[in-house]
Amino acid sequence: MSSDNTTKAETTVGAAPSTPPKRHRPVLVQMETPNLVPERELGKMPVLQAEHLGIDFGGLTAVDDFNIAMGRTEISGLIGPNGAGKTTIFNLLTNVYKPTRGTILLDGYDTAGKSVVEVNKMGIARTFQNIRLFNKMTVEENVLVGFGNSMSTHLLTDVFRLSKHWKQEAEFHDKAMDLLGIFSMQGLAHERAGNLPYGAQRRLEILRALATNPKVLLLDEPAAGMNPAETEELMENIEKIRDDFQIAILLIEHDMNFVMGICEVIGVLDYGRIIAKGTPEEIQNDPKVIEAYLGKQGVK
Ligand SMILES: Nc1ncnc2c1ncn2[C@@H]1O[C@H](COP(=O)(O)OP(=O)(O)OP(=O)(O)O)[C@@H](O)[C@H]1O
Ligand SMILES: [Mg+2]
Repeated sequence: MSSDNTTKAETTVGAAPSTPPKRHRPVLVQMETPNLVPERELGKMPVLQAEHLGIDFGGLTAVDDFNIAMGRTEISGLIGPNGAGKTTIFNLLTNVYKPTRGTILLDGYDTAGKSVVEVNKMGIARTFQNIRLFNKMTVEENVLVGFGNSMSTHLLTDVFRLSKHWKQEAEFHDKAMDLLGIFSMQGLAHERAGNLPYGAQRRLEILRALATNPKVLLLDEPAAGMNPAETEELMENIEKIRDDFQIAILLIEHDMNFVMGICEVIGVLDYGRIIAKGTPEEIQNDPKVIEAYLGKQGVK
């Protein structure tokens, strides 16, 4: 959990921002709550906080006592076996599910009672484990949908009307092309999203989420189905997105090279509860984690 290099968090606000460190050897700070943040975030209000979050589905407790405090430019990971509750946590954080217990603060504001769209507008955006794009729309139109915070609507008529309207706006077109540039996808702008290869669809989903101008980006298995070269490129681009947009990124992933290579803080979930939290190094050497998960993943 905690390491030798952790100290008690200070509570003063307003420390000078610093450039996020490059890969590995992050220094994590133990907070008074059961949370860790990178040292550079000390004294700043976490952008996302959840305390004692939980949800029951009938007799099944899918998530229990989940706590997180994310620094504003932190990249964190959530790992654990199938069915551990990882996606359910994303559904809780985005108000797709109403928590049975616990609190979520987004940039200091309680999200209780807000709709999915309202929470998105407050600053949290996500991608889905099972890709959800508007397959018949173009790549660019999918990004334009993000600008309108319209992710909640699946009424194609609405979407087409909005996208037609925005298409007249050169400004939005330019913004969309800028976003597509992150993954060098400008040349695909007029392709139907449904015709893209799987990896490109995953990348487009990230861009659509980014188009909603989030403070926190949640990625549910972003590297799933990608080949090693695509995965390596995605890692670099996720770090670039964090640096360029100065946002926090929380990701779920079963690809341990990806998680260990990119995350500063990792939480391990098992049967709905966090069983360990720490740096990649701490997590890889934690016997509880090896027993519950990593041993089965074949990670050295
Ligand atoms: N709406 C729901 N109703 C009932 N049970 C649910 C619901 N959503 C999730 N669950 C249950 O909650 C548990 C956690 O599921 P979840 O999808 O969060 O797992 P996960 O960690 O994302 O797994 P995976 O790695 O396979 O994606 C599972 O037992 C699942 O069946
Ligand atoms: Mg899942």
